[in-house]
Amino acid sequence: MMAAQPLDSPIMHDLSDIAHWLRHHPVHHTSQVHSTLPDPTFDTGGETLVSFSTNNYLALANHPRLVAAAKEGLDRYGVGNCESRLLGGDLEVYRELETRLGALKHKSDAVLFVTGYMTNIGVLSSIVKAATLARLHGFRTKKRHKYAYYSDEFNHISIREGIQMSGALRYNYRHCDMNHLEALLKAGAEEGTTPLIVSDGVFSMEGTIAPLPDLVALAERYGALLYIDDAHATGILGANGGGTSEHFNCYSDNIMQMGTLSKALGAIGGFVAVERDVAEVIRLTSSAYGFTCPPPPDQAAALLAALDLLEQEPQRRQRLWENQRYFIEKMAPLGYTILSTQTPILPVLIGDAETCQRYAIELRREGIHVDAVQFPAAPVGKARLRFMMNAGHTRAQIDHVVGVMARLAGRELRLVA
Ligand SMILES: Cc1ncc(COP(=O)(O)O)c(C=O)c1O
Repeated sequence: MMAAQPLDSPIMHDLSDIAHWLRHHPVHHTSQVHSTLPDPTFDTGGETLVSFSTNNYLALANHPRLVAAAKEGLDRYGVGNCESRLLGGDLEVYRELETRLGALKHKSDAVLFVTGYMTNIGVLSSIVKAATLARLHGFRTKKRHKYAYYSDEFNHISIREGIQMSGALRYNYRHCDMNHLEALLKAGAEEGTTPLIVSDGVFSMEGTIAPLPDLVALAERYGALLYIDDAHATGILGANGGGTSEHFNCYSDNIMQMGTLSKALGAIGGFVAVERDVAEVIRLTSSAYGFTCPPPPDQAAALLAALDLLEQEPQRRQRLWENQRYFIEKMAPLGYTILSTQTPILPVLIGDAETCQRYAIELRREGIHVDAVQFPAAPVGKARLRFMMNAGHTRAQIDHVVGVMARLAGRELRLVA
């Protein structure tokens, strides 16, 4: 056996030093290995816990109909898709899924990507370069645009990275602050830039809903495209789970509707719903579509079953919202600050990151998992327990977690010490 070689490159030294530091700072290092999926109950380290932080909002990930559809997909197609869809990897099941997702979002088409993260990276990095790429093939435009992105400061990191990769001008506006956004748009208009506004529909760490009608009005006033990331809204908001547009009954040709398939819909994948001609351009110009593989076909098959359940079992969504209201009502007398009560994401503000971790540890002792969210996912000094309500929570489980939070409220000083 060869002896371990000493690390001899500066980057390896850095990585090794960081790993050493992390071991002594457990507040930064909390990932646990589980043996089953939260539905919302799950097994980990020989115990059974209840998750109050799972994205599996509607408890669909292990629903028998999704599992059966995935098994049929496996039997029919095999385990993976080893091709780009532009080069022989296109399957009917993807097209069917895209048509269904387009319909959910009131668009004529959708483009499927391997994850939501890759959707944001892939679309935002490429749409502003589509004309440049087409010019290489002989396309002639009347005008060359200087594009500028306007992005909510709390947008998901994949949005921020996609915008950065685009090379376009970029401006952050304060969270949901339409006056600030308008001031930036006005300045951009004076510079002759062509604007694109990007916002999460539901903000994953805040639980807030973007003010879509105001965003649409501003987009119309300044001739902007609006890109909405409905990762936490698809399947959740609106009578049919259509997302932020359905919630506000606010639709516009100007909106690109992004969503993920790995949260309420229980599988994996991401998509952007747009009109058919725009979809064609995205398929041809986004590397994240053309230079990599789509999700495995069994996942697409499972997702068709998930979309059926979204239509056929609205009671799942209703239960989720009933649980959300019940939790808020029970927590009210305890004196905690819930940062937003608009969605099933209910962040309970703790403040100090270490105290927040200790809350999570105390909750874990009581059989409850809640994410302790801290910088960089939340602003410094605004660490929070990110409670996420689930259609599968029972009243007894909610009563239990509220009881533990009541007890911990009384012990706050000891937690800080
Ligand atoms: C707002 C938002 N957008 C995009 C994503 C990425 O989605 P996925 O997990 O499908 O990659 C997430 C996931 O956490 C998210 O919260």
